[in-house]
Amino acid sequence: MNNLFELKSDVAAVIGGTGELGGLMAESLGSAGAKVAVIGRNAERGEARAKKITDAGGEAKFFAADGLSAESLDAARVAIADWAGAPTSVLVNAAGGNRPEATIPPGGDFCKLPLDAWRDVFDLNLVGGALLPSQIFGQDMIDAGVGSIINIASMSGIIPLSRVVAYSAAKSAVINLTMWLAREWATTGVRVNAISPGFFPAEQNRKLLFNDDGSYTERGGQIIGHTPMGRFGKPEELAGATIWLASRNASSFVTGQNIAIDGGFASVTI
Ligand SMILES: NC(=O)c1ccc[n+]([C@@H]2O[C@H](COP(=O)([O-])OP(=O)(O)OC[C@H]3O[C@@H](n4cnc5c(N)ncnc54)[C@H](O)[C@@H]3O)[C@@H](O)[C@H]2O)c1
Repeated sequence: MNNLFELKSDVAAVIGGTGELGGLMAESLGSAGAKVAVIGRNAERGEARAKKITDAGGEAKFFAADGLSAESLDAARVAIADWAGAPTSVLVNAAGGNRPEATIPPGGDFCKLPLDAWRDVFDLNLVGGALLPSQIFGQDMIDAGVGSIINIASMSGIIPLSRVVAYSAAKSAVINLTMWLAREWATTGVRVNAISPGFFPAEQNRKLLFNDDGSYTERGGQIIGHTPMGRFGKPEELAGATIWLASRNASSFVTGQNIAIDGGFASVTI
């Protein structure tokens, strides 16, 4: 029982570990004993997060890569295996987010949504945020006969949210891909699951949720009103599910699942 949540034999790659949720997930994997590769485009933030993990007694290093570039992901994959002495066994796909141009303004017209913005959101969340990294890191996992991929989808992939149409559709596709790949790789030892956070204030959505004086925007207030627990999530509330899904002992028979961490948001129908 004591070893259920221990990740000492794992090498975890967290793409988007430079961000708020991915960064916390990287820390939680480090605290459970995994060697953690913090991956992203922003070296300053990635190195700061890696330092936080090492300061806490873990092992971590920042690797620069763009989730949308197969070449840079593959270079990171090789560099991580050199550094850690073993290939990546846990992949967290936490790069993602919405684009303001792909959000329909209040009273706006769906028919005028720019196709470029739609494609950008699909590229970031579905291609760079799940597909490409799974292709590039997945083969090593298949070869080793063990691996856990954790995609970060969203509540909006389960219940389409007003205005953020491209983001909702892209995250829904991430959930679908998670299930598809889980089935495809089910007998290889590689498990594929998703976490769907509800609402967690972070860089990419802070302006949507809060006014400059810290009060809720109209939308922020609506979200709180719809959340049974009556509050936003805190990034550390993703740690338990992250470690559980990463652990080959704790979640060995779990694949194709989408775990909502949302304060009950998805349970409310009106
Ligand atoms: N915060 C929330 O409430 C919430 C809710 C549901 C889902 N999510 C999802 O969680 C994930 C993390 O989001 P967050 O809220 O921590 O936002 P964030 O903006 O803090 O983190 C996203 C990170 O991804 C990085 N990134 C973006 N494009 C990249 C690329 N092409 N290659 C590599 N890195 C890239 C960004 O630089 C950033 O560091 C995203 O997929 C987001 O859609 C967030």
